[in-house]
Amino acid sequence: MIISLPNSEAIATSIAKKLCQKHIVLEKDYFPDGELYVRFPASVRGENVVLVRSFQPEPQEALCEVLWAGMTARRLGARKVTLVAPYLGYVRQDKEFNPGEAISVRVSGELIGHAVDKVVTLDPHLHRIKDLSSVYGCPVSALTANTLLADFIVKKYGKGIIVGPDEESEQWAARIARSIGWQSTVLKKTRYSSRHVRVELKEQLDVKNKTVVIVDDIISTGDTVAKAALLVSKMKPGKIAAVCVHGLFAENALKKLRSAGISSVACTNTIKNAHAQMDCAGLLAGELQ
Ligand code: R5P
Repeated sequence: MIISLPNSEAIATSIAKKLCQKHIVLEKDYFPDGELYVRFPASVRGENVVLVRSFQPEPQEALCEVLWAGMTARRLGARKVTLVAPYLGYVRQDKEFNPGEAISVRVSGELIGHAVDKVVTLDPHLHRIKDLSSVYGCPVSALTANTLLADFIVKKYGKGIIVGPDEESEQWAARIARSIGWQSTVLKKTRYSSRHVRVELKEQLDVKNKTVVIVDDIISTGDTVAKAALLVSKMKPGKIAAVCVHGLFAENALKKLRSAGISSVACTNTIKNAHAQMDCAGLLAGELQ
């Protein structure tokens, strides 16, 4: 039984169709004082319940809804509760960067692990933690959209160079480039704050008159990709495009990308937005079979 939570109806419907399963929408409301109210509109007793909820926009709402829905499904006698989070939030804060900070991946992971039996997600931002199962205390299947991105890039741009804006992006940039026979390079990034980064070259780069596709897992404020584009644009490329898995586009990200000379931006539909051009429902459905 596929159950969509707010903001994820489209992708939940698509997953349900691929699996030829029932799809229902979780009822959500607020009490007059602002507290969350959720209700399953059909019996989940004995069912394999799949909750679909992306953690953007409104990550706090998403977390609460998942906890309320998961624990309620269990209380109502669901056989198994799986969370499909096409974009899983709170993963990037994986250590105490400054004294006293919450390690969000641990806090959210422990809570979610209490509410569901399994998590399925796409390209979670894994850096210092290699397997989220150890943090969540339940199995976490981390799938990758690399094949979707690779097919999209080759169909749309034909031939060019893939640039990863930082060392962490190598797992997407280099692998995708290899799979389509493109050249690739990764840049060096220094992060000063959650909104400001500096990006520099690690090796000589010849992009003159070539198509450059900047590939990353997440575009949030857009600063990382914009700084990479500004650097590359000094080398007179043919055009610069940006392709990512999760298009968060926080604040004025899209404006920043355009001002940096990026002519097209594309992402998967893990988060609903106008730039979602790759459908990941098939990948997620495959993991539920
Ligand atoms: C972090 O290293 C990620 O791979 C992305 O580069 C980062 O999340 C992008 O954030 P922003 O768009 O705010 O620079």
